[in-house]
Amino acid sequence: MDLLELLYVSTAQHIMLDQELKLILEQSRAYNSQNNVTGMLIYSNGAFMQLLEGKPEEVINLYNKISRDPRHEKISKIYERETDSRRLGEWSMGYLSQEDLSKMKMPPGYKDLSDPNFNLHQYFNANENEYFCDYIIKNSKQMLQ
Ligand SMILES: Cc1cc2nc3c(=O)[nH]c(=O)nc-3n(C[C@H](O)[C@H](O)[C@H](O)COP(=O)(O)O)c2cc1C
Repeated sequence: MDLLELLYVSTAQHIMLDQELKLILEQSRAYNSQNNVTGMLIYSNGAFMQLLEGKPEEVINLYNKISRDPRHEKISKIYERETDSRRLGEWSMGYLSQEDLSKMKMPPGYKDLSDPNFNLHQYFNANENEYFCDYIIKNSKQMLQ
């Protein structure tokens, strides 16, 4: 149990351009690979969902830094869990685009995440749905870029 896994959702400050997302990923991958942080990032309809995993103090420091980033707001932590293994150990920051998400089969009763009327952030605020998050993480693995 010497690792921490933290998942949050947030609302982008504006609709992100591909170029802006690329910059976030480049920054993230450079820092995370040097600091042994792994995880994944989803961007869909103006909302982010990000999983961070690594040494607890490192994950907490990074989360605090990310929380102050003006490129997003309304950051809400979904969970913080101690763990002894990484789920995304091979990804300094895997990325799943809206297009990739639209190909993911949702569990029964869940809306398609790429639906333009669907706001990831509002959804999680309303539901605090860990089962759904776990499902997305598990099913993202083969699709991450
Ligand atoms: C949605 C989102 C996710 C981010 N994820 C990471 C990340 O995983 N690792 C990272 O180092 N920076 C990440 N950043 C960037 C940080 O917030 C920050 O800009 C970067 O670490 C540089 O900070 P500094 O200028 O204080 O060094 C993310 C930013 C956003 C908006």
